Amino acid sequence: MTERNTMALPCVAERFVELATDDEVLAFFQGVRGDVLILGGGSNVILPERIRQPVVSLKHADINVEQETETSVVLRVGAAVVWDALVAWSVAQGYYGLENLSLIPGCVGAAPVQNIGAYGVELKERVLRVRAYDRQLQRFVELMRNECEFAYRDSVFKRHSGRYVITEVCFELSKQPRFVLTYGELQTLQDSPDLSLQLVRDTVIAVRSEKLPDPSVIPNTGSFFKNPVISKRAFDALQFDFPGVVGYPQGHNSVKVAAGWLIDQAGFKAKQLGAARVHDRQALVLTNTGGAQQHDILDLAASIQSQIKSIFSVELEIEPVVIQEQQQEPRHD
Ligand code: EPU
Repeated sequence: MTERNTMALPCVAERFVELATDDEVLAFFQGVRGDVLILGGGSNVILPERIRQPVVSLKHADINVEQETETSVVLRVGAAVVWDALVAWSVAQGYYGLENLSLIPGCVGAAPVQNIGAYGVELKERVLRVRAYDRQLQRFVELMRNECEFAYRDSVFKRHSGRYVITEVCFELSKQPRFVLTYGELQTLQDSPDLSLQLVRDTVIAVRSEKLPDPSVIPNTGSFFKNPVISKRAFDALQFDFPGVVGYPQGHNSVKVAAGWLIDQAGFKAKQLGAARVHDRQALVLTNTGGAQQHDILDLAASIQSQIKSIFSVELEIEPVVIQEQQQEPRHD
């Protein structure tokens, strides 16, 4: 699995299965009990050295136009399609909606799990429905957007981990210009005479490449912590002690705090523990400098969490999914 996770953690799976069709998904899951790990691009997992549960990779890779009107289009996209290939394709077709999510690593099937989001857009705003094999009901189901329980880096698929095996995602995109240019660096495009889908995509790619390490060069899983949402009252107290703190109001009573700012202020940028390192241009990203194992990354994360708690009284929650090494079944022979 070492080449199948973008943190490049050394990992061996005892069983690895590729499933190409719905029939194969059905046959496999009807014959297996217990934990199964569904692995997409491996860009949001922190793997242990050994995985005893079966690891499944889906191969559904079609992009179909399901419906089209003068103004919009519905796309049905297989779980194995590389996320950024879908964004590039939709931009080339002139479909508006995914361009702000350019260059996010991973596959389409994983995107709804943590409701990927960047530069003012979250996946939930573009999803129409998700098709999945429901291991509890033992059949395929289609969840409409409002049934996916999307929230910031969260969904029903993340909360009920192991229940749903996502095979396809349907997106509703606009054929008419509809830009979201609220995020810092994108605001300057508002008055650009050359404003286009491709320009937004190119700008997002430039901003990401500036701050975030390319996982194929420096192994990482993007933001390692969620931006914590705290009460307005707690934020006011924090701001009193640290006037520079960056926060985004979420309604009247809560504020989302930029965890990168907290970690940066605590002096962690470019700090290394074993082979795990805090990225020097974005403190929210942890990287593997070469040879790191799961515990190296988690030790650095724990040290950051405890410092942030003691300096700012804020709890940081790990964003990628940490897969625990399962104990070997006791033998009864
Ligand atoms: N900041 C610092 N120092 C740092 C990092 C950030 O002071 O080392 C400050 C920045 O100056 C800025 C604020 O913190 O004022 C926010 O930084 P940035 O705009 O880079 O975004 P972020 O909150 O750190 C989130 C997402 C990213 C997404 C960007 C842009 C999360 C956990 N992360 O990062 O998503 O690309 O916004 O929308 O919500 C990911 O999930 O893997 C990811 C990369």
